[in-house]
Amino acid sequence: MFSRYKKSEGAGPKVTVPTPTEATVQATPTRPAAKPAADSATVDKELKRRQKLEEIRSELHHRLLDNLNLAALDDAPEKELKAEIASICSEGLEEMAIVLNKEERQTLHAELFDEVTGLGPLEPLLKDESINDILVNGPNRVFVERSGKLELTSTRFKDEKHLLRIIDKIVSAVGRRVDESNPYVDARLKDGSRFNAMVPPIAVDGSLVSIRKFKKEKLGIEDLVQFGAFSEEMAAYLQAAVACRLNVIVSGGTGSGKTTTLNALSSFIDNSERILTIEDTAELQLQQVHVGRMESRPANVEGKGAVSQRDCLRNALRMRPDRIIVGETRGEEVIDMLQAMNTGHDGSMTTIHANSARDGVSRLENMIAMAGIEMPIKAVRAQISSAVNLIVQASRLQDGSRRMVSITEITGMEGDVISMQEVFRYQRLGLQPDGKIIGQFTPLGVRSHYSERFKQWGYDLPASIYEPVAAE
Ligand SMILES: Nc1ncnc2c1ncn2[C@@H]1O[C@H](COP(=O)(O)OP(=O)(O)OP(=O)(O)O)[C@@H](O)[C@H]1O
Ligand SMILES: [Mg+2]
Repeated sequence: MFSRYKKSEGAGPKVTVPTPTEATVQATPTRPAAKPAADSATVDKELKRRQKLEEIRSELHHRLLDNLNLAALDDAPEKELKAEIASICSEGLEEMAIVLNKEERQTLHAELFDEVTGLGPLEPLLKDESINDILVNGPNRVFVERSGKLELTSTRFKDEKHLLRIIDKIVSAVGRRVDESNPYVDARLKDGSRFNAMVPPIAVDGSLVSIRKFKKEKLGIEDLVQFGAFSEEMAAYLQAAVACRLNVIVSGGTGSGKTTTLNALSSFIDNSERILTIEDTAELQLQQVHVGRMESRPANVEGKGAVSQRDCLRNALRMRPDRIIVGETRGEEVIDMLQAMNTGHDGSMTTIHANSARDGVSRLENMIAMAGIEMPIKAVRAQISSAVNLIVQASRLQDGSRRMVSITEITGMEGDVISMQEVFRYQRLGLQPDGKIIGQFTPLGVRSHYSERFKQWGYDLPASIYEPVAAE
């Protein structure tokens, strides 16, 4: 019945079957490590059992690769393939005279299925909705991030070769290569997740993999308010700012929630506007009707065909955008972004990697200098201050929570210095015994520099939203 996935002699393209030592196993369950067993005898027994299972998996995986017609797998219905794997497993177990209980058998089937069709040990982690990031430090250390906190999992690759094979599977699917001469690579997984890998010898202790999981359901403004990422007053203020076409920069550290915030802010853009988005890896999911999405492209293996964010941005300016959203400004595209913000594409937005609003401005200055533009610093600052209206600072705090710790307006220039005013801030008040931070959002008592504009555009925010909250 399932024979069409079985390899027939001489049929189908030739596939390279890994040697038995390369055969893959997933050493342990993928959930966080189990609690330590009560005594060393139990630990020993458990270890031996796992080793035995590992050997069985290794052997069965080898048999599967020998028996399955890998070329036909792409079109194989999941149900049939699972049944096929189960049948090859049963035959193998019988031949090896091994008896497994039902649960062990099911786990084995699922892991072999992941190994054959997907990304092996990474597969259950990719399916786990509570995980945001997967970080692999060599074959024996796989971390995940849940609720802002990193956890070591018991997921293992059999060895570095196994890990490399999975990396290769991912990057070759997008037409790229990673090896000693090309030791790092960016890619996008089939489900949209952002993927980066760096392999030895540059990665000293084994390949390093970082995956930012793609969330189908992006967090909206209401979710973010509910999670305590910012207050309702801040949401009302940001709605006015985006609707009134202020140019906004979301600044923050790595994984602080910049892209999520940018995506949520974009929901305030009117449906009638034409929005063009430019990203290195397409992560944004705008809900408007009129959205054109662009993704830059690195050079191919021959070093050709690169299309940078700057190329996309320059082209975007010829595509009649009402607003331009650049996923992250990190290089020479900064010039075109600032120019776009200054010349009729107001209401544009981007993110930058910085630890405060002031720091963000310095980053912009540095990016301009690095792009080789020779302009007096005063002129650079004047350009920045007239382009950027608002800097929203996102941060991942030590308890894992992600919050918008500050909203700062750029109000102009005073001499050589860009003047700013902070309108909202997250105030830390203390620490709970469980390590959770106690704090509150508070306005700083200054009226928005853009109040008049808000009013003219029909967003008459009450003065009360700028009144500071007394510390409790
Ligand atoms: N306020 C929040 N509450 C809970 N989870 C959040 C919040 N903001 C973001 N996240 C989650 O945190 C992860 C990182 O968010 P995001 O991709 O927006 O960060 P980033 O700053 O853009 O990261 P990078 O610097 O890697 O681009 C995502 O999985 C996202 O769903
Ligand atoms: Mg991001």
